Amino acid sequence: MALPRGVVPALAEPAAPILLQARPGQMLLREPGKAETPIWGYDGRVPGPAIRVKRGAEVWVRLENRLPQPTTIHWHGIRIDNAMDGVVGLTQEPVAPGESFDYRFRVPDAGTYWYHPHNRTWEQMARGLYGALIVEEDAPPDVDRDLLLIADDWRLDAAGKIDEASLGSLFERAHAGRLGNELTLNGVSLAELAVRSGERVRLRLFNCCNARVLQLRFEGLAPQVIAYDGQPTAPSPLPDGKIEIAPAQRADLLIDMTGAPGSKAAITEVSNERLVAGRFVYTAEPRLERDYGPLRLPANGLPEPNPANAKAVDLVMTGGAMGRLRHATYKGQEIGLRELARQHGQVWAMNGVAGMPETPFFSAKRGQTVAIRMVNETRWPHAMHLHGHHFRETPTANASKRPPWRDTILLKANETRTVAFVADNPGKWMLHCHMLEHQAGGMGTWFEVAA
Ligand code: C2O
Ligand code: CU
Repeated sequence: MALPRGVVPALAEPAAPILLQARPGQMLLREPGKAETPIWGYDGRVPGPAIRVKRGAEVWVRLENRLPQPTTIHWHGIRIDNAMDGVVGLTQEPVAPGESFDYRFRVPDAGTYWYHPHNRTWEQMARGLYGALIVEEDAPPDVDRDLLLIADDWRLDAAGKIDEASLGSLFERAHAGRLGNELTLNGVSLAELAVRSGERVRLRLFNCCNARVLQLRFEGLAPQVIAYDGQPTAPSPLPDGKIEIAPAQRADLLIDMTGAPGSKAAITEVSNERLVAGRFVYTAEPRLERDYGPLRLPANGLPEPNPANAKAVDLVMTGGAMGRLRHATYKGQEIGLRELARQHGQVWAMNGVAGMPETPFFSAKRGQTVAIRMVNETRWPHAMHLHGHHFRETPTANASKRPPWRDTILLKANETRTVAFVADNPGKWMLHCHMLEHQAGGMGTWFEVAA
């Protein structure tokens, strides 16, 4: 299988696939003593197993579908071979119940990535299908502990079952998306993460919520961000002491655990009111005293966009509740909003098109820089995700202060932002809102990069 880029040394191929069963299971998502919740998970649990590989290695996963509906796996943030991108209707057929599918691809970039279905994503992720994909650096940074912190909010009914009435509902599509009422970290309520006083932790943070933008604080600690969406960035403290992380985004934090042995430090979610989401729990061991190597992660060497010579395109987002969308093109037909909403569940449009257009949003030559000006003309935030590539926000006047690479960018209501990337990965790629009810409600398009 060909490498997307020429820079990465090929490692030995795995001899056998990792088996991942997408299947129903039971998880205790609430406090101990309460009833378990029936979920869908990889290997029946949430989060699914974390897959760890070395940069440049081949990932070989055999997905077995034991769900009652078709599914796929999308490897979010990986600059992947297009045929392995997992998008139903664009890059592959859905994997039917009882069937399996082999994903085989190389991982060109070190960093923090994840996997999830790309069929009825709004339902399958809400039921718990996601897991971490960690690509290790050639020389990992000098830390004592590498922790995953995978956040999700669940919408549960009083009995602790997943609230099914709200799954994909028109109301949720037209508003903020389906927000939960139970926040879990690593699949448990009030997660406790064991740490030792004095040590340096790399915390890999994931937002796996369908739609909630999280703001997390690490009480009494001073984390530094060292990567966004898998790609290294110059270490910097958290603005206002908190990290804002939109659905699908990741952030790698470096945290010096300065608390005393035996103490605790709360992880709080502060987007709404302050809510304790989990805790670091210091062991009784004496404080670790040692010196550390450099903070900075090695760059993955992504190609720099050339804004001066870019193909410029506009993506105008309209619709949603309190929006002014009157009609849109849906499957090639001009349809009024009422029919669009009631019969097709479509409430958003991008460039006047609701849902996947029949022709690409744009076509790029391989290696061409593309600049997408995203214009959010709605009253709602959107977390826009580009497949197969990472982008930077522009303009990048000061080269030493370039905005970070990202694969998902949050646009607040009425915001306009421009991102640029080198379209060097051939194939058909999606660009969509990762607030999954918005995607289902029309906010998904695609572009093509010539071979
Ligand atoms: Cu994480 Cu198109 O998705
Ligand atoms: Cu959205």
